[in-house]
Amino acid sequence: MNKILDDILEECRQYTQQGEVASYIPELAKADRNELGIYVCTNVGDLYAGDWDRKFTIQSIVKPVFLMLAAIDNGIAYIKEHVGVEATGKPFNAIDYAEPLLLKEHINPMVNIGAIAVCDLIKADNDEHRLHRLLEFTKSITGNPDIEIDMDVYNSEKETGNKNRALAYLLKNSGMIKGSVDSLLDVYFAMCSVKMNCQDLARIGQLLANRGFDVHSKTQVIPKEDAVFLNAVLTTSGMYDGSGEFATTVGIPAKSGVGGGIMANCPHKMGIGIYSPALDTKGNSVAGIKMLEKLSKKWELSIF
Ligand code: DON
Repeated sequence: MNKILDDILEECRQYTQQGEVASYIPELAKADRNELGIYVCTNVGDLYAGDWDRKFTIQSIVKPVFLMLAAIDNGIAYIKEHVGVEATGKPFNAIDYAEPLLLKEHINPMVNIGAIAVCDLIKADNDEHRLHRLLEFTKSITGNPDIEIDMDVYNSEKETGNKNRALAYLLKNSGMIKGSVDSLLDVYFAMCSVKMNCQDLARIGQLLANRGFDVHSKTQVIPKEDAVFLNAVLTTSGMYDGSGEFATTVGIPAKSGVGGGIMANCPHKMGIGIYSPALDTKGNSVAGIKMLEKLSKKWELSIF
């Protein structure tokens, strides 16, 4: 427990009543909008408040996980040959790609189409192996061997994920998916349905804050240049078409998910995990952003 976090949490509780819990994946609509949690991992100890141990699905917070593993497998130069890094300024599931063929410059790894393309770059013998590698990697970056998939959310997204199917077929049409669209999407849906709590998210954030060095296992889990690359992408595009506003009010690398989580980090200082499931129209947690704004002001976290 921590007085500063407790106070921020109570000040922000009112915002849990704003926005809407995601319902386009029906199973996500069961979330309780009153829940609010925060966990902070600093290199000298952890702080937490509220419902930090509630488990929820990470959804788009898997996008940086895909990018990390794909960068480890292939190197950043190869990744940049396949996807762009410019912010799209569009919603996370935008499909308005006017070109007859997709241009990689327009595919950002933090939006759905780019994340599906990056998932295909992760080295594996087949998609079952790809999912296995991703789950093992997720366990290592969270330090949590019990990470598992929420099968109800996975089935719910699989049943309703036709927009993602359309995006994946656009990629396939442009030669950006090598194998089966269906089995690659299964990996995407399953990984979006990985369950975590705020501590798990904060641990990923802490790893990025320390440029890929895990202070718990005392090992370099991600190459330094990959961690720096990822934080740059998170800063410009991690909060979708809300990334510019977020940079001005919070000013740290972060990634949101429609499950209500936010994974953030303040370089060299701390990783932060947030949970509050009611979202703004851009798919970002309303109360979660408010808590980060207050924390950033209080502790002067902005990197700018
Ligand atoms: O593909 C989807 O639509 C979801 N599995 C993830 C989207 C998401 O989390 C957007 N984030 N704020």
